[in-house]
Amino acid sequence: MSSTNPGGAAGPHPIVVGNWKMNGLKTALTEAVKVKDGLPAAGAPVDVMICPPATLVLVLAEVLKGSHVRVGGQDCHAAASGAFTGDVAAGMLLDGGASAVILGHSERRAGHGERDWDVRAKVVTAHAAGLTAIVCVGETAGERAAGLTETVVRRQLAGSLPDGITAANTIVAYEPVWAIGTGLTPTTGDVAAVHAAIHSALGERYGKDAGGVRLLYGGSVKPSNARELLGVPHVHGALVGGASLTAADFLGIIKAYDAAG
Ligand code: PGA
Repeated sequence: MSSTNPGGAAGPHPIVVGNWKMNGLKTALTEAVKVKDGLPAAGAPVDVMICPPATLVLVLAEVLKGSHVRVGGQDCHAAASGAFTGDVAAGMLLDGGASAVILGHSERRAGHGERDWDVRAKVVTAHAAGLTAIVCVGETAGERAAGLTETVVRRQLAGSLPDGITAANTIVAYEPVWAIGTGLTPTTGDVAAVHAAIHSALGERYGKDAGGVRLLYGGSVKPSNARELLGVPHVHGALVGGASLTAADFLGIIKAYDAAG
């Protein structure tokens, strides 16, 4: 399905994904209901997804049933099941009503030592379970200062993505680590350059279909900068952390697409 981004360029149907991270008790479900109720009855001109903590996946999926808002997980184990205390399996997320899972977020790479091949193993498992993998890549401030942004992103893509991905089972999120939760964002020119590099890397490796993989930008996306960032060529939506926690801000970002008419 094709659509138009806020900049007017044709491309894959966009998606705005909220990543609640380790935030949200049952009381937070009211925000998700406000998001659902705040979307046009026919659905927004953009796909919408909320990735709550694992404890809320099942109940959120129930609350959002029949709406245009989908549910995703934030991580899964590389094994389908077994003796892995504290972990969540891809099949459990699917069973709970999720249709996707975020993998390789920089907070997991940094905080849990996940390397590219760990992420790749999880992507394979997520696909086998029937989930869409939302795979995160992005450079640190130091890598950026050293001029290594595209090198790092290309290396992470090469290592984190298995063979045979398609536009249907994979979404890539470019999230500069230094932009996450800081209020800092790259220039639109910088985002355009990295997204063009990702688009061509995927096209080279997977051919035309994976060249159609949706590429999200993530890192301090807010209602005030969404239209500008989401209008960049090869940006097909956003992965939103802090601003996804309140319905007003999250809807404000989704509305960047309405403004495109
Ligand atoms: P942020 O987080 O929007 O709070 O910067 C984005 C993310 O980590 O996915």
